[in-house]
Amino acid sequence: MMLSFLTSAGFVPSFLGLWTHVYDVAHEFVFQRPMVAPGPQPTQTGIITDPFIRIDLTAIFDVKAAASNSSDTSANFDGYGRSYPAKLLPNGTNYSFRGIEFALPSFHSSSNDALRSAGQVLNLSTAESRQYHSLHILGAVTFAPGASAVPSVANFTFHYDDGETYDATIILAPWFSPGAVFEGAIYLPYHYANPSLDSNQTIDKNNTHIHYATARIPSARNLTALTLPPSSTNIHIFAITLVQASAPDNTVATPGPALWIQNVRSTTKWIDNSTESSTDVNAGAQLIEVTLANLAPLNASDSAWVTSNHTVVLQSDTLTTVVSASVQRLAPNDQVVLLVGVRNADGGVQGSNATVRVVITDAGGQEVGLAGGEKEWAVTAGIPVYDDSDESLGKHEAPEWYDDAKFGLFIHWGIYSVPAWAPTGRQYAAWYNWDLHNQFNPPTAQHHLALYGPNVTYDDFIANFTAQGWDPNYWLDLIADAGAKYFVFVTKHHDGFSLFETGNSSDRNSLLLGPKRDITKDLIESAKVRYPDLRRGLYYSLPEWFNPDYGPYGHQSFPGMPALNAFNGSCCDPYIGWVHKENFLTDVQKPQMESLFYDYGAEILWCDIGYASAFPDVAAEWYNVAATQGRQVVRDDRCGSSQTDFSTPEYASYDAVLSSKWETSEGIDPYAYAYNSDTPPEAYKNASILIPRLVDIVSKGGNYLLGFGPMANGTVIPAMTKPLHDIGQWLSHSGPAIFGTRPWWVQPSDPAANLRFTTAPDAFYVIALSRPDGSVRTRAPVPARAGDRVSMLGGSGAMLEWKFDGEEFIVESGDEVKSVDFAWVFRIEYAGADN
Ligand SMILES: *[C@@H]1O[C@H](CO)[C@@H](O)[C@H](O)[C@H]1NC(C)=O
Ligand SMILES: *[C@@H]1O[C@H](CO)[C@@H](O)[C@H](O)[C@H]1NC(C)=O
Ligand SMILES: *[C@@H]1O[C@H](CO)[C@@H](O)[C@H](O)[C@H]1NC(C)=O
Ligand SMILES: *[C@@H]1O[C@H](CO)[C@@H](O)[C@H](O)[C@H]1NC(C)=O
Ligand SMILES: *[C@@H]1O[C@H](CO)[C@@H](O)[C@H](O)[C@H]1NC(C)=O
Ligand SMILES: *[C@@H]1O[C@H](CO)[C@@H](O)[C@H](O)[C@H]1NC(C)=O
Ligand SMILES: *[C@@H]1O[C@H](CO)[C@@H](O)[C@H](O)[C@H]1NC(C)=O
Ligand SMILES: *[C@@H]1O[C@H](CO)[C@@H](O)[C@H](O)[C@H]1NC(C)=O
Ligand SMILES: *[C@@H]1O[C@H](CO)[C@@H](O)[C@H](O)[C@H]1NC(C)=O
Ligand SMILES: *[C@@H]1O[C@H](CO)[C@@H](O)[C@H](O)[C@H]1NC(C)=O
Ligand SMILES: *[C@@H]1O[C@H](CO)[C@@H](O)[C@H](O)[C@H]1NC(C)=O
Ligand SMILES: *[C@@H]1O[C@H](CO)[C@@H](O)[C@H](O)[C@H]1NC(C)=O
Repeated sequence: MMLSFLTSAGFVPSFLGLWTHVYDVAHEFVFQRPMVAPGPQPTQTGIITDPFIRIDLTAIFDVKAAASNSSDTSANFDGYGRSYPAKLLPNGTNYSFRGIEFALPSFHSSSNDALRSAGQVLNLSTAESRQYHSLHILGAVTFAPGASAVPSVANFTFHYDDGETYDATIILAPWFSPGAVFEGAIYLPYHYANPSLDSNQTIDKNNTHIHYATARIPSARNLTALTLPPSSTNIHIFAITLVQASAPDNTVATPGPALWIQNVRSTTKWIDNSTESSTDVNAGAQLIEVTLANLAPLNASDSAWVTSNHTVVLQSDTLTTVVSASVQRLAPNDQVVLLVGVRNADGGVQGSNATVRVVITDAGGQEVGLAGGEKEWAVTAGIPVYDDSDESLGKHEAPEWYDDAKFGLFIHWGIYSVPAWAPTGRQYAAWYNWDLHNQFNPPTAQHHLALYGPNVTYDDFIANFTAQGWDPNYWLDLIADAGAKYFVFVTKHHDGFSLFETGNSSDRNSLLLGPKRDITKDLIESAKVRYPDLRRGLYYSLPEWFNPDYGPYGHQSFPGMPALNAFNGSCCDPYIGWVHKENFLTDVQKPQMESLFYDYGAEILWCDIGYASAFPDVAAEWYNVAATQGRQVVRDDRCGSSQTDFSTPEYASYDAVLSSKWETSEGIDPYAYAYNSDTPPEAYKNASILIPRLVDIVSKGGNYLLGFGPMANGTVIPAMTKPLHDIGQWLSHSGPAIFGTRPWWVQPSDPAANLRFTTAPDAFYVIALSRPDGSVRTRAPVPARAGDRVSMLGGSGAMLEWKFDGEEFIVESGDEVKSVDFAWVFRIEYAGADN
């Protein structure tokens, strides 16, 4: 049974619930009842729409992004003569990413195909002016030669028919990024360079992308126009799609939530069983991601809310749902990403194609009709075996345990911990050896000369790096005390001194020199025994500054040649333990990385610097071997390959939710990961800075990898242990607002309120970053409903009074806030959580 309205002629309704993405120039609605499935009668939902409006940008395109060949100078994407190779870009204009349908420009013609965002106002036609749920863009950020390639944070301003405006913040990644990787919707292995700026090169082989970004559009009112971000953001846009909200619910007799499956995506993740203490009977089940939106408009009546436990399963001939997802609460104009655990039915081939259907049942066991009707989704059943191709390696993704973990500690300890010096707040102490030899950076050389004289070289510090009295348990207790869920230990920094067994790839290691001990092994073994659930990450620098064998790949600060004496320029400083190898990649990097994978059991490989790399040749086997052991491993974006599991802002963070996983790293020191004796105790960040930072990062989808630098003898100074302890104390009560949470899809730009939000299946968290004075107030559309219980974590446990005053959500926090410091978590526990 299906009822269709045609608001104008010429539109093709979808039949039998098969979802047809018909692009209709007039952007008309199809109103459609959910398909009535055999079996129990589905309950009524809100009205149904074909939700995509693809804004036609053709008339305002002002940039030619794609060139037909490297000498085609008519294209100039970045303003510096560089361009995308058209032959690697999609030919068609219909393009789908994460369930969103876009109209791509015709990259293969001579017409302009991109828009340089410069505050343009896009007026919607009368037919287009209506209530919208979300904004989706395909674009990329350009940057000037020599500037750093960082994502750009920008506002789109929505204009409504009543004159109101709303600023939505998005973040978009650079179109390429030397040394690091931001994975985008469309990947190209290179782009056309500008020979006169790029050393006569016509091709730049940095990974090049078109990226995706999204934002919620408050849907209570009709949208009439949007203002694009200013030109200073360097954002370039290829396509914009708006997803409509369902029409106001007075147009249907029996309103309800307008539940729309935006996307179903098979992941290469599975239900984890890799910690030592795991006992989950569903371990190994593949996770399928379902993006579920409630398209009912923001101002819909109560009946448009999901307020009881809905269960989401997948039906398929090939896949059996073993762990359903549940949705306890989903407000209008909100959406959520769910994970359903499935197993391949008997005989299912790993990596085979399958189709699935999403079935949602309400708390009473009734099947719920879906906006858009039913759709079959194509997925890959089972985790494919990886091969060395970019396409295959690009399927790897950060596992759930990594996203759940949120907070890790980064340990920098090595020869540099002996001199332990850099001009505080300005340079990295772990870079001592480079700065000593860098005449443009004299403070370190001057310090060295004054303290040690001209005859002491960096390698003379090796003898004083003894690890005598170092007890790995002491660090692990510190990590546990801080409440961290993982650590990343520096096994080899740019000075080339390895703290692990390097076999015949090098003798420059802690087993033969300095401590005469396998530091990495001792740390890992102790962690396994004492804290089996703590995830073990290993940092590895791909280049070594002064290893001559790196020479063929040398660049900028990594020349790969012996250091000349810092004071008289003579050749050369010793490089103790160096063993000459023909091929740095296959003879040094490859065996060393493989050792970290297989001998030391790295769960996180935290590569640094990127560039020339053996990683692409060892990654597939690592992923495959780990999978046969039930282990889900993860790597960062600095491995010198075309892919990443997460990106790594350094002493920086993102001000919006990036479309992929990210992790901020920085030291407790104002500007050093390793111990810096030049930093006075009061200059270290304390918990009143670190805890709000953790909360802010987690609320935007990031992890926080916080660095501490032990002194040469392994001791960690109180200026670092104190804040770590304070974080641990805070997490001991407020951890539920951090660990295992996901960012709220609704990212309010409400900076004045100094509030952050995180979500969990059974609760919503409002986190105040300054001590509330009597009450907590926000105009963000907090999904609280009558019956919900609000309490402050770390307080007395008392239920707090709360209400909506118009659109403003208010919690009477009273004196509860006196018992907690640093950040105040208000947990909204959904009513019916025990239904
Ligand atoms: C490169 O592209 C330009 C512009 O489309 C075209 O005129 C030229 O013939 C092409 N050159 C080659 C070698 O294909
Ligand atoms: C686009 O079409 C051309 C010619 O038909 C083909 O050679 C090319 O591979 C296509 N590109 C993509 C990305 O599909
Ligand atoms: C976005 O808009 C909000 C609210 O108007 C404002 O506070 C914020 O600074 C803006 N962000 C950017 C990047 O312009
Ligand atoms: C580029 O080529 C020109 C002409 O052959 C040459 O003079 C110049 O040195 C080259 N530049 C670089 C950076 O290689
Ligand atoms: C990557 O980009 C940088 C900066 O534009 C450039 O110097 C470098 O040559 C590029 N790398 C490759 C492999 O093309
Ligand atoms: C949006 O515009 C339509 C058509 O003008 C109108 O019927 C509807 O009431 C408007 N909706 C809102 C929420 O103002
Ligand atoms: C699986 O589906 C993809 C995309 O639809 C297709 O290219 C591929 O050939 C299919 N593989 C098999 C084994 O049927
Ligand atoms: C450094 O070594 C040189 C040569 O052996 C010696 O003449 C000089 O006195 C030494 N300087 C210091 C400060 O020890
Ligand atoms: C090494 O330690 C010894 C004894 O503490 C000290 O005298 C010497 O100056 C140190 N040398 C270096 C290079 O740090
Ligand atoms: C984890 O799951 C994998 C795949 O099902 C299995 O091979 C492995 O034995 C399991 N490991 C543990 C510790 O349960
Ligand atoms: C480590 O060295 C520091 C600085 O020299 C010293 O204060 C501390 O007592 C030492 N710790 C141990 C355990 O020897
Ligand atoms: C929701 O229902 C599912 C079963 O359908 C159950 O496993 C889950 O625990 C329930 N969730 C809550 C929060 O009650």
